Amino acid sequence: MCGIVGYTGPQSAFTPIVEGLRRLEYRGYDSAGIALGTGTSLFVEKRAGKLANLEGALPANLPTVHSGIGHTRWATHGGPTDRNAHPHLDNEGKLAVIHNGIIENYSELKAELEKRGHKFESETDTESVAHLLSELRKEHGGDLTAAMRAAVRRLRGSFTLLAIHADAPQTIVGVRRNSPLVAGLGKGENFLASDVAAFIDYTKRAVELGQDEVVTISPEGIAICDLDGKALPLKEYEITWDAAAAQKGGFAHFMLKEIFDQPKAIADTLIGRLSDNDQVLLDELHMSDDEIKKIKRISVIACGTAYHAGMVAKYAIEKWAKVPVDVEIASEYRYRDPIVDKDSLVIAISQSGETMDLLMAVRHAKAAGARVLAVCNTNSSTIPRESDAVLYTHAGPEIAVASTKAFLTQIVAVYLIGLKLGQVRGTLTDAQVKSLYNEMLELPGQVEQILETIEPLRELTRKFVKNNTVLFLGRGIEYPVALEGALKLKELAYIHAEGFAGGELKHGPIALIEEGTAVIAILPTKDEHALDEKMLSNIQEVKARGARVVVIAPEGAEVIGAEHIIRIPVASPLFQPVLATVPLQVFAYEIAVARGTDVDQPRNLAKSVTVE
Ligand code: F6R
Repeated sequence: MCGIVGYTGPQSAFTPIVEGLRRLEYRGYDSAGIALGTGTSLFVEKRAGKLANLEGALPANLPTVHSGIGHTRWATHGGPTDRNAHPHLDNEGKLAVIHNGIIENYSELKAELEKRGHKFESETDTESVAHLLSELRKEHGGDLTAAMRAAVRRLRGSFTLLAIHADAPQTIVGVRRNSPLVAGLGKGENFLASDVAAFIDYTKRAVELGQDEVVTISPEGIAICDLDGKALPLKEYEITWDAAAAQKGGFAHFMLKEIFDQPKAIADTLIGRLSDNDQVLLDELHMSDDEIKKIKRISVIACGTAYHAGMVAKYAIEKWAKVPVDVEIASEYRYRDPIVDKDSLVIAISQSGETMDLLMAVRHAKAAGARVLAVCNTNSSTIPRESDAVLYTHAGPEIAVASTKAFLTQIVAVYLIGLKLGQVRGTLTDAQVKSLYNEMLELPGQVEQILETIEPLRELTRKFVKNNTVLFLGRGIEYPVALEGALKLKELAYIHAEGFAGGELKHGPIALIEEGTAVIAILPTKDEHALDEKMLSNIQEVKARGARVVVIAPEGAEVIGAEHIIRIPVASPLFQPVLATVPLQVFAYEIAVARGTDVDQPRNLAKSVTVE
């Protein structure tokens, strides 16, 4: 989960590399480093901490050079120190390597290389690759691409690697296995990066790289080959979003901007999904009506916030399509012999499309014969590429580490799948589908309405800044929303926060309540189960024990026992999560700002988790 950039071309390489790293800092920010090819040697600088530390350490008279590599790190092997920061060098200081992922057999390699006289400087797994590549380059007459092909055959694990050598600095060689890497095709200049965001200012032409493909860039072009050296065709695609979409747009933080992006993100995900004769249009599923009718069970797999979207989805899909749905944390999935076969549809939800836990679960499900449908926000990322089909959410780039707009678009995307399944399986009539779809089309406007009243909500939130425990209560489909509210607060404000199903309180968690404990309760829209009344009882139970209760409630609903009420527009029960989530995002954001934490890059986290 590190960010990687490579540049070669006529510009001074420093700017595209450092600006690229700034765009990739969401992937890790424990340390940063660069290696620039000066023509005779490498200029290398690296520093623990954020990119700003590296920039502060650079000399004013930095040489003007035209190629180089840069790295921003999320530490795995070896603490976040200057020494462990990338790039790592061979003993001659002429070959530099940067790496994202884990080299599982690094200690074996290190022992072998040390026996042959290599001296190691760091505690990282990456350094073994620098030494190995250096040896192999010599064996291959100075050909770095051939050396990389040979090196990869010796490596186990998941990795993206980039290497540069002082003797031919305009050439940068990369490879990927289970970790992201994409090439950018410019005019007389070319790029490599973990994510297109790094080079979007310079080119919108990107080239996909497959598993174990070795890529070589120079100002003249991009060449890709497999591990046997066979040249492969370039799979080029156009990047559809522009640089402005990845800027803060006047907001104090990316997270706040992304909260405000939500109405558009939901609208973009929903647009054009119902035909004039009320048929759900989801050709991306690549499933015939017959295949849809044969589905016996659905498993939703995901991590973190995306897992909460999956939990929400279960309520809608089961209600509409009458298929049993189980929802599972991806990191647990393949370790318990899940019941999955050709009659199963597995829905893998991911913003980044690179989450390793999910990728492994997807592979497991595919190997068991299931059909895998990815719901993803990142074009051409690994999980959609390895799935049978993909439905893209259209949230646009999500830069803040805490997921917001991706979550809401994941919910509506999976709802579209639920509608499609219900319609094809005959459990929903066309008229019902039309009415549900039309109700979903109201959601962007309703979220907009909540955001228009954000100021009083921010003010209210500040009253809870000193609380060190906040509990979230939900019932029914609002239970996963309570979990999501708690996750946001934990990761952003580093506060003990937990989400509970209201009915579970009496089975243990109520013991946590003491005088002044903050409780945020989501009052469900009234339905046939009268869950709202049950939640009102839960509110009384915690209030009687001293809790300060904030209630998120639909306009007009009667609320008793709340210290504060946050009103949201009325939506039918299945759609309420999309609305109820928004105040919780704002709550976590505001507390984090007031407590002075790093909102966009919370400690110990990274946006894209490409290790298991
Ligand atoms: C929380 C958050 C994480 C991600 C999780 C999955 O705000 O962002 O919990 O949801 O790491 O990431 P993706 O969706 O990229 O697979």
